[in-house]
Amino acid sequence: MGDVKQVGPLPGGVDPDEYDRRRRRVLWSMPSGLYVLGSVAGGRRNLMTLNWATQVATDPKVVAVSVEKGAVTRELVARGGVFALSILSRDDRALVRKFVKPLDDDGDPASLADFEIRVGSTGAPILGRAVAWLDCRVVDRTDCGSHTVFFGEVADCGQVAELGDVLRMEDTRMSYGG
Ligand SMILES: Cc1cc2nc3c(=O)[nH]c(=O)nc-3n(C[C@H](O)[C@H](O)[C@H](O)COP(=O)(O)O)c2cc1C
Repeated sequence: MGDVKQVGPLPGGVDPDEYDRRRRRVLWSMPSGLYVLGSVAGGRRNLMTLNWATQVATDPKVVAVSVEKGAVTRELVARGGVFALSILSRDDRALVRKFVKPLDDDGDPASLADFEIRVGSTGAPILGRAVAWLDCRVVDRTDCGSHTVFFGEVADCGQVAELGDVLRMEDTRMSYGG
């Protein structure tokens, strides 16, 4: 099995390493979007690259995001009870590389670590480059192993006039999870 950590059940008669690679590839093949998740609590704000987000209910309008237990964002969403999902243009694919570690918050209301932001009605930061955004209040959460899934009711949203093609995971060479 090399140094691959066995996660979850193993079907009978399979090579564990081969199965692990196959499961990863199949999980990576699931289509998904690519977003920047804004959070705030106790005067600290953060922006984090995230692809595990989806609408999960229509009445009320609820969006779920899944955040690593060790992430600063997890702490901020848990304490602040809000998050904002920034939806980006496909042309801004390079931007998501900037939000894979915690940002220094300089406290400037118009910017966060030199990135232009706006502040949503919940107080969560929205990336200035976003072409659309969902501003959410956490209504529920559940721990799921490595991650915490936060359920947020949409409190406000917006979009720029020319929405165009929005960024998806497949627009990048990056992968996450699997
Ligand atoms: C393409 C890509 C997608 C990611 N998707 C997620 C995600 O859905 N959930 C998550 O918790 N971390 C995700 N990450 C990792 C976080 O961006 C990274 O660990 C994060 O910045 C740590 O969070 P923090 O800044 O709040 O500490 C992703 C990273 C990349 C490069």
